[in-house]
Amino acid sequence: MHCVQKISENIYWVGGNDRRLERFENMFPLPNGVCYNSFLILDEKTALMDSVDTAISRLFIENVTHVLNGRDLDYLVINHTEPDHCANIEEIVKRYPNVKIVGNKKTFQFIGQFYDFDYSKNVLEVNDGDTLSLGKHNLKFMTAPMVHWPEVMFTYEETEKILFSADAFGTFGALAGNIFSDETDYEHFYLEEARRYYANIVGKYGQQVRNALKKVCSDEVKMICSLHGPVWRENLSYIIDKYEKWSGYEPEKSGVVLVYASMYGNMENTVNVIANKLAIKGVKDMRIYDVSKTHPSYIISDIWKYSHAIFGSVTYNMGLYYGMESLLYELKALNLQNRKVGLVGSGTWASQSVRIMNEIVSSMKNMEIVGTPFEITSSMKQNQEETLDKFVEEFYNSIK
Ligand code: FEO
Repeated sequence: MHCVQKISENIYWVGGNDRRLERFENMFPLPNGVCYNSFLILDEKTALMDSVDTAISRLFIENVTHVLNGRDLDYLVINHTEPDHCANIEEIVKRYPNVKIVGNKKTFQFIGQFYDFDYSKNVLEVNDGDTLSLGKHNLKFMTAPMVHWPEVMFTYEETEKILFSADAFGTFGALAGNIFSDETDYEHFYLEEARRYYANIVGKYGQQVRNALKKVCSDEVKMICSLHGPVWRENLSYIIDKYEKWSGYEPEKSGVVLVYASMYGNMENTVNVIANKLAIKGVKDMRIYDVSKTHPSYIISDIWKYSHAIFGSVTYNMGLYYGMESLLYELKALNLQNRKVGLVGSGTWASQSVRIMNEIVSSMKNMEIVGTPFEITSSMKQNQEETLDKFVEEFYNSIK
């Protein structure tokens, strides 16, 4: 049966949820599922804003058919061509052969690359700033390249002042009936997942996100409809402020994320001792992760949140333990900046880990390595405590 909800008098949410998918993009764990949003505007003309993933095609078509209630579909606006939002274009064209697919030049390039059906009679190509009247509603298209792919555009509905923001402002996590953020306990249920989504999916493109925010986020916007997660109709500045920070690579909070790569527990012990000493000095709300245990998307998300990080790793195969190496290279690839970092290394012979971690972190923008890295040989010994205390003191001084 259909499952729809009004977001305003003549605009309906016609999306759905997937709680079965194990990993988003076959990479990021989804403990709370994910939702795929699509919205249908009824006016003199009808317009569907994006489609959804194949996982919920059946429900989606039922939703669209129900809301149209026998009317034809005039437009299908494609704000983003990633297949989690485009899987149903062909089905829509089959059912509504007169529909015009609205997108920019790159939109149609990507549709052609992913899919194999004839949509040549359905193309309505638009450029940045173009508008399309549906009657009372007026759509304005604004390109937002690299938020998250190069073809991305935002669509602003000028009458009700609704921003259809593609992936921007999205989050992992399915919707539980409440489709508006103000109906949810957003801070506790969605915020961590919104940050994990941002950092891992869009984090690399901070400058492009900032350009798009400048273009579209004014006081006049009354509602934000992302392709994933709840609709924002109240307190929009809350999520816009988060995006300002995240896209500027500014920490949200002073605090420390400690990440270790440990084979036999000795690096784990050292990192625990460091955290203990920092806690005794008064540092609050620290996070410790075993790089082999926790999916990197969670670690990356917390590093995005906090001001400081400590990386502790063993040497492996005369290089860096690969869980730590891949985490650091991913942080670099995501363009993480402006963090203070402490390094802890270990080896049983020919220790290399501090040198390699130093090289990777130093090659990132505006990253400061605090104090002298601390090193152990196989395990930490009592006679190293004075040196460790110096490392902890230097690190603590950088937090105060
Ligand atoms: Fe939800 Fe970039 O796709």
